[in-house]
Amino acid sequence: IGNKIYHFDELESTNEEAKRLAPDEDEGTVIISETQKSGRGRMGRDWTSPRGGIYMSVILKPTIPASHAYHLTLVAGIAVANAIRNLGINACIKWPNDILINNRKVCGILTEINAEIEKIDYIVLGMGINANVDTGMFSSELKEGSTSLKSELGKPVERVSFVQNLLYEFEQEYIKFKSKPFNDIVDEWISLSDTIGKEVSIMTPSKMVEGKAIGVTKNGALIVKKDDGEKEEIIAGRCIYTRT
Ligand code: BTN
Repeated sequence: IGNKIYHFDELESTNEEAKRLAPDEDEGTVIISETQKSGRGRMGRDWTSPRGGIYMSVILKPTIPASHAYHLTLVAGIAVANAIRNLGINACIKWPNDILINNRKVCGILTEINAEIEKIDYIVLGMGINANVDTGMFSSELKEGSTSLKSELGKPVERVSFVQNLLYEFEQEYIKFKSKPFNDIVDEWISLSDTIGKEVSIMTPSKMVEGKAIGVTKNGALIVKKDDGEKEEIIAGRCIYTRT
C-alpha cells in the first residue's frame, strides 16, 4: 500500500480521481489532495475539506466476493484508529465508519465499489481526516460534533509521518484481512469500537431502528436488539447514541 502516491494540491474529490485512475493502476496506489472542491461524504453528504486536513483514497483490487467489500471499511477504520492511538490519543470507532475522539468525529471513511455481477474490478477507500484544521470554521451543524488532531494534541500533527504510519497500519490490517479468518478483524474492530453496548438510534435509508447495539456480523452489519427483544441486522445507516 502506498508504493505509488499521487499528490495533488486541489481536486474535486480524491475518490473521484481514484476511480478515474483505478483501471490502469495497481492495487495499493494512493491519491492524496491538500484540499477538495467537492469532497463527498456518505449518503450524499458533502465533506468539508479545508487545507490542513488529510484527504486520501486508496485503490484496492482484492479477489473477494462483492458482498464482502464492505469489510474493508472496518479494515480502514481499524487502521485509522490505530494510527491516531499511536499519537497517544484515545480514538474509537463508531459504527459503521466514523473515528471519534471524546465523542467527536475526527475522520470519515467512504468506500466505493466497482463490481460487475459479484466480481470486483476495484474498490476505492476514501478517508478524510481533520488533521490540522480548525473545526471552529465548520458550519454550525458540523462544529459541535467535530474535532481535529491539532486540537486534541494541542499542536499541529506532522502530517507526512502520520500518513506514513497510517498506510503502514492499513497494510498490516489488509494483510490480515487477506490471510486470516474475518472473525479476527471483527474482534479487533469491536475492541476499538465504542458502539457495542450503547443505546442507539439508526436512520437507515428506509426506516428508523432504535435499541441496543449488541454486536456486528461478519459482514460488518450492526446487530441491534430492539425494545421488543427482536434483533435486527443493519447494513447501512446513520447512527446516533441515545443514552450514554
Ligand atoms: C463520511 O461521510 O463520514 C465519509 C467521509 C469521507 C471523506 C473522504 S475525503 C477523501 C475521500 N474523497 C472524498 O470525496 N470523500 C472521501
